[in-house]
Amino acid sequence: MALDIEPITPFLGAIVRIAPEDSIANGVPGQLLDALERHKVLLFPQIHMSDEIFLKLTAAMGEKHEVAATDDGSEVSGKGIFRIARDKDDRTQREFILGNDFWHMDGMNYSVPVKATLLKCEKAPAEGGDTGFANLHAAWDALPDDRKRQLEKLKVGHCLSACLRRLHEHPTKEDFARWDAVFSRVEHPLVWKQQSGNASLLIGSTANDIAGMSEAEGRALLDELLEWCTQDRFTYRHKWSDGDLVIFYNSGLLHKSYPYPDSAGRVMHRTTLKGTESTGAEIPESAAALY
Ligand code: OGA
Ligand code: MN
Repeated sequence: MALDIEPITPFLGAIVRIAPEDSIANGVPGQLLDALERHKVLLFPQIHMSDEIFLKLTAAMGEKHEVAATDDGSEVSGKGIFRIARDKDDRTQREFILGNDFWHMDGMNYSVPVKATLLKCEKAPAEGGDTGFANLHAAWDALPDDRKRQLEKLKVGHCLSACLRRLHEHPTKEDFARWDAVFSRVEHPLVWKQQSGNASLLIGSTANDIAGMSEAEGRALLDELLEWCTQDRFTYRHKWSDGDLVIFYNSGLLHKSYPYPDSAGRVMHRTTLKGTESTGAEIPESAAALY
C-alpha cells in the first residue's frame, strides 16, 4: 500500500491520511518509520485512533519505552499509556507536564535517548497548548563550518533540575533532591553525530552547563544555540484538534508545549519508542525507567 503523504513545510513535517486500522496493516509501520526519519513529524489529522490500535501501532514501530514516574494511577496509565493532563493533583506528574513547556529533547537521562514519541489528542485545549517542533538536523547543517568544529569539541551537562527549577522562584533543597532522584547530572557530547550522517545539538531545557566553562559562559552558549535552532525557518507549530495523532522523531528534534491553563481541558495520550543509537555518553542504565 502506498502511503498518502503530503509535506507540511520543506524542512519539517508531513500529513499522513490513512484509516486507523490501515496504519497497522502489513508493511505500513515500516513505511511510517521511513517517512518519520525523512519528515521528523508525521501528522494524522483527526484520525481518532483507539487506545488499542495506538498500542498496536507503537509495538509495530519498535520497542516500547516504559516509564514509571509518569504513572498517574489512571486506567489509561494502567494500559501503558502516559496520560498528559492537568486534572489530577499529583505534584510529580504535574511538574513533568509543566516542564514540557520549555524546548527539550526527551530521554537525556539515557545514553540511548528515546527514538520517537506518539502523541494522540483526546481533548484539544480550549486555549493555548499547541506543540512546537524544531528540526535540529537542519539547524546543525545551516551552521558555518568553523562554528561546527568548535562545538564538536564540547560536552554538555543535563539534569532535570535545569528544567524544573525554572518553575519555582525559590527552589528548595527538597525540590532538588526530588528532581535529582529521577535524573541527576549526566554528560553528553554537545554534538550527537548519528549513523544516518545527521547531527543533533544536545541542548534544550535539561541542558545545564558546558563542561570546562563558567556557569555564565556555558549558559550564554546554550541560550545562543537554542535561539539558533528554534528560528521560525526550522520549526513547525501544531494546533491540536480532537483526534489528531502526531508521531515525532525525538532524536532529531526539540519539542515543547506552548503554555495553557489547567482549565483548557487538554488531554493527550502518549507512548514512546526506545532508541537504538547512543550519544556516546557513559550513563549506567538504571534498573527502573523512570522518565
Ligand atoms: C512529551 C511532550 C508536549 C506536549 O510528551 O514529551 O513534551 O505538547 N509533550 O504535550
Ligand atoms: Mn517531551
